Amino acid sequence: MLEVVEQAKKVFQERYGRPPAAYGVAPGRVEVLGNHTDYNGGYVMSAAIDRVTVVAVDKASTEKCRVFAQQKGAEATFSLDGIQQDPHDRWADYVKGVVVELHKAGVAVEPFDAVVTGNVPIGAGVSSSASLEVATAMALLELHNIVLPRWEIARLCRRAENEFVGMPCGILDQFSSVFGEENSILFLDTRTEEHEAVALPSGSFGLILIHSMAQHTLVSGDYATRYRECMEAAAWFRDRLGAHVQLLRDVSWEEFLQWETQMPEPLRRRARHVISENQRVLDGREALHRGDIRALGEAMYASHESSRVNYENSTPELDLLVELARKHGAIGARLTGAGWGGATINLVEEAQMDDFVRSVAEEYTARTGIQPNVHRCHIAAGARSFRE
Ligand code: GLA
Repeated sequence: MLEVVEQAKKVFQERYGRPPAAYGVAPGRVEVLGNHTDYNGGYVMSAAIDRVTVVAVDKASTEKCRVFAQQKGAEATFSLDGIQQDPHDRWADYVKGVVVELHKAGVAVEPFDAVVTGNVPIGAGVSSSASLEVATAMALLELHNIVLPRWEIARLCRRAENEFVGMPCGILDQFSSVFGEENSILFLDTRTEEHEAVALPSGSFGLILIHSMAQHTLVSGDYATRYRECMEAAAWFRDRLGAHVQLLRDVSWEEFLQWETQMPEPLRRRARHVISENQRVLDGREALHRGDIRALGEAMYASHESSRVNYENSTPELDLLVELARKHGAIGARLTGAGWGGATINLVEEAQMDDFVRSVAEEYTARTGIQPNVHRCHIAAGARSFRE
């Protein structure tokens, strides 16, 4: 049994005086390509990593639910009728949001006790929040003996984040946590939900996450602004190209180039990023199929450049990490996830990994005074649940 699962069991036993009845285990993810394309109906490439959130549950004998977050040393209690957000316990909103969505999906959730633990780094751009949502859903479904299709679980968790937490994210994180496959990069068309897992050529390349340890702004506010700008850009094209344009996904690169000079800023740059990024994901997928890792890597560098210039969600620290990655031989590197701080993802040859990590970390610290946090990402399977 995974060490973190053992730990969840032990903490549950100590706190509630009995063992848990069921577990949900869900991984974090890295975004390989496709920055801010998901809520624009576009394409993404990602991978689940071997860092997981574990939720251990059992039915409670009282009317209240208790959820203990081991890493925070905090417990949230709430009753199932009238679930409310709590500004003091934001982490618990992810759990509560999933409970609300399970109810809406017809699952009669009964009062429960839960322990949350895990080893997904928090605030490092690997979506600890989606892993908490998915682990909660998996654990509660297992506890109530209910099977839902995997897509439904991913969608329900996204709705929890959109509607209860209030973050207008796309489905990239929840999809990746649910559908991850060992040693494979996932491709998803968020519009049609077509997806596939493409195996990385084995043993030769790996992904390294480097956390810049510098957060610049309140990410959720910037994220919501970009979301709004993208919807405005889509509406701008709808007025000119017709009602079929629902999202930026529906504008081709050629159409964009034709209209670009007439577009107001910053909508022009936002649209340029999203529409070109969609093409990079498609090119990256082709490259992966051909086994052309270099082409995939170049698409990653180009993605970062577009995020930096057009989407303006990079930071000087992330830019420096990407510059150093190129200098020290990464095949590809870019910011991963929302941006405005957080981490870069680096595609590196296996034989070079140790030197690469040492050189980049040393030079980054010398130039910024900040110690970066480095994780070697083993690409892992998606979420699962089981009973005690
Ligand atoms: C966050 C969101 C995702 C996606 C990325 C950016 O991780 O949760 O839905 O939009 O940012 O690509």
